[in-house]
Amino acid sequence: MLEKINNLKEQISALQADSTEALEALRIKYLSKKGEISALFNEFRTVPADQKREIGVKLNELKNLATDKINELKAAFEEKNDADAGIDLTRSAADVPLGTRHPISLVRKEIIDIFVRLGFTVAEGPEVEDDWHVFSSLNFAEDHPARDMQDTFFIQRSPDILLRTHTSSVQSRVMEVTKPPIRIICPGRVYRNEAISARAHCFFHQVEALYVDKNVSYSDLRQTLLYFAREMFGPDTKIRLRPSYFPFTEPSAEMDISCDLCGGKGCSFCKHTGWVEILGCGMVDPNVLEACGIDSKEYSGFALGMGIERITNLKYRVKDLRMFSENDVRFLEEFESAH
Ligand code: DAH
Repeated sequence: MLEKINNLKEQISALQADSTEALEALRIKYLSKKGEISALFNEFRTVPADQKREIGVKLNELKNLATDKINELKAAFEEKNDADAGIDLTRSAADVPLGTRHPISLVRKEIIDIFVRLGFTVAEGPEVEDDWHVFSSLNFAEDHPARDMQDTFFIQRSPDILLRTHTSSVQSRVMEVTKPPIRIICPGRVYRNEAISARAHCFFHQVEALYVDKNVSYSDLRQTLLYFAREMFGPDTKIRLRPSYFPFTEPSAEMDISCDLCGGKGCSFCKHTGWVEILGCGMVDPNVLEACGIDSKEYSGFALGMGIERITNLKYRVKDLRMFSENDVRFLEEFESAH
């Protein structure tokens, strides 16, 4: 009996099947009620009592071996069938869905690229700032309304820690530690305590530019602005500078560009003036240079600041500012082909 068991073990270990029918035949041959292993179990009754234990163990081992082997062959078969049916090696790869760049990122990059071509380099500063870098160093009077809680989000009072309300704070940070010539462009997020609506948000994005060197003049500023406007909005763009006021520049100006919707004739977009405002600028106030440790008799500079959302609106006519922060993919996907 032991010999029969061992022979069957050898046979079973070597089994192969190349079709489902062949496999079924093997199952019947070994494992069915009339199969060879059942026959051995019948014969087991005649085994003398003193050998029953040893042979019983072997017989069970044999049965397990056969069951495992048949299952293993069956699994291998199924895998092969799946592979034959499911894999088409000539098929092209599945599409990987690609994201799109956010319009604010697109326009930020465009602005930066223009200034980089003029020799500016990118500088960044913290969003959580102190009063000195956002206001005091920039010549804001002690009672200037921008310092008011209505405009500024304070994190802590005396000493004042706040969310920066403009990227002009990066100017003072850079001037404090850099000897001119300085030519920087500072993109970043800024915060203001505004009720959220289609036209205002409590955070938005700005780009600040600063140029400080010997003999920097107002015409350098004007020429830089003209170059920027034409690169950004097309070669026929006209600019106009209107006198304005900012604490950190003297003289200060606001720049308009000719309305490209109506070609300057006047339409509802430009409120029938033919011009749209895009940024603030001016010659750096000597007080600011001195506050940041730069000799205002030796050096002069110009600065400008613009809102990225505003430029994006002009380029892409986004009507509601909230679209920029809601991240609705239907909106974002519209910029897929923009770059
Ligand atoms: N910081 C100003 C703002 O947030 C923008 C600005 C105006 C920046 C004039 C400048 C500048 O550098 O010269 O409205």
